[in-house]
Amino acid sequence: MSPSAPLFLRLAPVLALLGMCLGIVMGISQDHRLQTLHAHVNLIGWVSMFLAGLYYRLVPAADGRLAYWHFGLATLGLASLGTGLAGLAFGERSFEPFAVVGSLLTIAAMAVFAWIVARTS
Ligand code: HEM
Ligand code: HEM
Repeated sequence: MSPSAPLFLRLAPVLALLGMCLGIVMGISQDHRLQTLHAHVNLIGWVSMFLAGLYYRLVPAADGRLAYWHFGLATLGLASLGTGLAGLAFGERSFEPFAVVGSLLTIAAMAVFAWIVARTS
């Protein structure tokens, strides 16, 4: 199985670009309603994912099947959480389930990572 480190390391800068573009749009428009989405795309997407990729690159023994689960859960989680946060930012309560599911997936991804780090660090 090919390692998942490149998946994390390649996706993270793309999310940084998206998050920064959103930051610039917020700054220019002076409309900061999407600040929470911006913060989480940057901090979960860029910072946390790149850190995970670096860990998997540093500790190849950690980069097994479970790391794929980590990547899948983290990616789906951020997509769903982001959708929920964006909707809620504009007052759309119907987007709440996306935030709930995204939160649970994001926590599940971090739990998987915590388990991997505990066994390999
Ligand atoms: C081109 C780059 C960026 C631009 C133009 C930008 C712009 C902004 C703007 C306009 C706000 C709202 C500030 C306010 O309402 O007071 C904000 C908030 C925030 N940004 Fe960025 N940002 C950028 C990059 C980043 C990066 C790389 C990160 C994290 C790694 C980040 C994390 C945050 C956080 C956490 C907040 C919320 C701060 C708070 O709660 O007061 N930003 N950003
Ligand atoms: C299950 C995952 C997470 C959930 C459900 C979540 C949810 C939230 C919520 C509801 C807020 C308050 C937003 C508001 O006041 O409008 C918030 C703010 C914030 N969170 Fe998270 N968060 C998560 C993970 C994280 C992580 C992993 C980081 C950093 C690595 C982070 C950094 C922040 C920051 C910097 C703020 C303040 C940003 C702002 O002012 O909008 N969060 N988060």
